Amino acid sequence: MKQAHLRVLGIESSCDETAAAIVEGGRVIHSNVVASQIDLHAQYGGVYPELASREHVRAIYPTVEAALKNAYMNLSEIDAIAVTQGPGLAGSLVIGVNAAKAMALASGKPLIPVNHLEAHIYAAWLHKAGSKPGPEPKFPLIALLVSGGHTELVLMSDHLQYQSLGSTLDDAAGEAFDKVARLLNLSYPGGPAIQAAALDGNPEAYKFPIARLDSPWDFSFSGLKTAVMRQVDAYKDFATDVPVADIAASFQATVVETLFSKTMAAAETHKAREIIVAGGVSANRALRDAFRGQNKFKVHIPHVSLCTDNAAMIAAAGFRHLVNGESYGLDFDVLPNWPLSTSA
Ligand SMILES: Nc1ncnc2c1ncn2[C@@H]1O[C@H](COP(=O)(O)OP(=O)(O)OP(=O)(O)O)[C@@H](O)[C@H]1O
Ligand SMILES: [Mg+2]
Repeated sequence: MKQAHLRVLGIESSCDETAAAIVEGGRVIHSNVVASQIDLHAQYGGVYPELASREHVRAIYPTVEAALKNAYMNLSEIDAIAVTQGPGLAGSLVIGVNAAKAMALASGKPLIPVNHLEAHIYAAWLHKAGSKPGPEPKFPLIALLVSGGHTELVLMSDHLQYQSLGSTLDDAAGEAFDKVARLLNLSYPGGPAIQAAALDGNPEAYKFPIARLDSPWDFSFSGLKTAVMRQVDAYKDFATDVPVADIAASFQATVVETLFSKTMAAAETHKAREIIVAGGVSANRALRDAFRGQNKFKVHIPHVSLCTDNAAMIAAAGFRHLVNGESYGLDFDVLPNWPLSTSA
């Protein structure tokens, strides 16, 4: 069979989303089902690991069945199964990995363990069945990975070749959105809530600090978070209403400026041909607008629905390992702390 027609069933359970998807040729999405636990965890203001595992157990097989049904396929029409091996919550990862192993064993299909972070990047290759595909990203490229747990600048010289240039020294960008949202009494997850609140705010109302660091490619967001906290506390001390929209807009503008300027500088310094922006925070409208507003580099940003956790991206990354000729047994374990740079 031609590589372009290889079909991969992707399975994702690293955090609070149980997801399954079928992707052809690493690009074409036939189905993409995400069972989100957001409502369940919202009452705790973050992910409650034990509850997450229990929900994955409940959702995993119905989610896979829905992905097959939506694609009008059965397991025998799939060429391989890809599953998130890490990083993520151990108790959550193990549910997806064990389900994938059981399906691989029963069907005789190859099983490919995938790094969740490389999968976020491979979301940039995806498009829906029936929609016109954009051009494929070209190497060498700079990938800005901005998610709930990670913020990293990565140089990719080719498929599956990752060199980490720098990363956050403290909070991830998504984590900063979530923490600042909590300070502003906004809902969980914080990213979309801050984006919505910022619509009515002035991004220049407050001048929040951008961290100066020894390495130009590292990030730090904890000073920014503290500056927001001080500002909020100052209003509370004077029993004045907190101007949520202005603070949200100014905070968002500071994060966007930090991410945008470092990524552009990294692309220029490392003579990249193109840029990928991926991970949950790449759903942010202001961040997308910043990259779309320049014409120095072609920038690939996944469709908003593919920025946060999903299994289509796991299938897309699994496809690359499959065509790379890699094969794996069934005796691998989950890797809760697996960094991206060792996944090549
Ligand atoms: N529109 C948005 N603007 C800003 N941040 C957003 C937006 N939408 C989602 N996010 C943030 O993205 C994060 C979730 O992204 P993602 O699902 O990639 O993270 P994760 O899987 O929990 O972490 P990781 O991928 O690092 O393991 C959350 O922190 C959320 O607040
Ligand atoms: Mg993620």
